[in-house]
Amino acid sequence: MNMRRTIIAGNWKMNLTAAEAVAFVEEFKPLVADSTEVEIVVCPVFTALDAAVKAAAGSNIKIGAQNIHWEESGAFTGEISAAMLKETGVEYVIIGHSERRQYFGETDETVNKRLKAALAAGLVPMVCVGEVLAERESGKTESVLSTQLQCGLNGIPADEMEKIVIAYEPVWAIGTGKTATPEMAEETHAYIRKTLADLFDRDTADKVRIQYGGSMKPANSAELIAQPDIDGGLVGGAALKPDSFSELIKNAIK
Ligand code: 13P
Repeated sequence: MNMRRTIIAGNWKMNLTAAEAVAFVEEFKPLVADSTEVEIVVCPVFTALDAAVKAAAGSNIKIGAQNIHWEESGAFTGEISAAMLKETGVEYVIIGHSERRQYFGETDETVNKRLKAALAAGLVPMVCVGEVLAERESGKTESVLSTQLQCGLNGIPADEMEKIVIAYEPVWAIGTGKTATPEMAEETHAYIRKTLADLFDRDTADKVRIQYGGSMKPANSAELIAQPDIDGGLVGGAALKPDSFSELIKNAIK
């Protein structure tokens, strides 16, 4: 039986100021108050984390960050440590998003270091993997994902794995309106789970939640979530408005 709790997270990327984040949370709270079957997370920009945590206090909305550095402190201009994130009260963090890989030089090695820092601090990491269009078209999806998982999860003990959420985001589906079909997404999610079983063991693989990300919206969240290996979503554009995000969540209740 599938015991994995559905987790839907909004990745706001570089959108919404602190004031806008607070207004979002206030409007969003009553809309999702009854959606207790789903773990709901929103990930604002760093400067809005503190305000978002305070606005969401006492509700079923959790707050996450979009990045974390692996060192505790030091000369790392523009980066932020686990302790600094914890101080704001966030509980989740996105790691290795494809935009960070594409524009900011993120690699599987830095993903691995950030992941270890997040786990050590007790933050729930959402680790992003996914292939670009050329890789899908040339039949390399599985080998790309294997490498990302093997390197990204290097040195993580099996008993820590159930704390980690994997976000499968086919890069060609992000912000393009092109969603992977539910069948295509399921096939890849099942492959990711099989890879986790190979890297760890079947029991461990069955406990890991795997989110889908890439043009997820209210109109397609139900059929995506209905797939056996899709345990949630990492949502960009459709998570920027309380009404569309709450509708997406309601449709995603298994
Ligand atoms: P969109 O939902 O806008 O396609 O973005 C997906 C994403 O990158 C979430 O991390």
